Amino acid sequence: PFQWRGVIEEYRDRLPVSADTPVVTLGEGGTPLVAAQWLSEKTNCEVWLKVEGNNPTGSFKDRGMTVAISLAAQAGDKAVVCASTGNTSASAAAYAVRAGLLPLVLIPAGRIAKGKLAQAIVHGAQLVSVDGGFDDCLRIVRELGKNYPVALVNSVNPVRLEGQKTAAFEVCDALGDAPDLHVLPVGNAGNIAAYWKGYREYAKDKLASRTPQMWGFQAEGAAPIVRGAIVEHPDTAATAIRVGNPASWTLAEAARDESGGRIEAVTDDQILTAQRDLAAREGVFVEPASAAGVAGLLATKAAGRLDGGLTVVITVTGHGLKDIDTALSYALPQETPVTPADTDAVARVAGLV
Ligand code: F0G
Repeated sequence: PFQWRGVIEEYRDRLPVSADTPVVTLGEGGTPLVAAQWLSEKTNCEVWLKVEGNNPTGSFKDRGMTVAISLAAQAGDKAVVCASTGNTSASAAAYAVRAGLLPLVLIPAGRIAKGKLAQAIVHGAQLVSVDGGFDDCLRIVRELGKNYPVALVNSVNPVRLEGQKTAAFEVCDALGDAPDLHVLPVGNAGNIAAYWKGYREYAKDKLASRTPQMWGFQAEGAAPIVRGAIVEHPDTAATAIRVGNPASWTLAEAARDESGGRIEAVTDDQILTAQRDLAAREGVFVEPASAAGVAGLLATKAAGRLDGGLTVVITVTGHGLKDIDTALSYALPQETPVTPADTDAVARVAGLV
């Protein structure tokens, strides 16, 4: 019988763990690389989706959290703290309680999707809704980590990126080599740095013949790296990437520049259209932020700046069920009428007769 053992056991020799590390896992990683037929036709490329919504708590954050929480448990920490637009807090909460640690999470009040809020609540996180944005929350947790006995598990903790780099290994393992292009959303900018690290490691150890160009996409209202300046009041419907001062800013720029890639912005309209098309055409339901890479690839193609024939992997970072309010706000144009429990009536309403 085969079972994926989680990213620490699958890639142990490439992660900062030892034989003494108590492995805290929910079986994260091993996510599907799905052939994207519609996107491939539309872009004249071979496009694959790395579907990270299939992780245990529904986002890529679990890859880093298994490492961060395992090491916190090994260090004898009693509590962990993070700032989050929602997914990090959901993941931190799940892994922390599994290890018997207290999760303390700071979220921007009223600005996280309900599914993520529900996750933090049901996992029993100590939740603090802060009157401010993600950037305020991150500043505060950094100070808490310095002044109180709590371990910081945001991606400013480098072991988070170590865990997240395993997604690049999986892509190479699945394709037999690195793709030409790796495309993904950018918020706090840790993930693009993590993939770049993973790809470089595999190329250095000859497990891949090359590294891909890294293409990151921010939301237009929250695009500090694109503008080259902190955004004081970031705003986008893609709440997961509503970040004005990314912690891994310089690492993201290094990934862009060393790979010959780009970091650009897409509008909320482009993001929500891409989200809808992914769901309706590819059968893959992702949260809005997760569609930013798809939106970016399509915008680049539309602008005539995408060569044909490339192998492209797009990371779709989180599950669509995280944020059903945004999805329903455009998908339900009117009240669905209630139909009598009668086969003929249903056949009529369904347009079969
Ligand atoms: N996509 C989703 C669904 C996210 O939750 C995030 C980040 C990103 C993309 C961007 O990744 O920050 O590494 O550039 N979410 C963080 C959080 C900020 O708190 O959950 P990044």
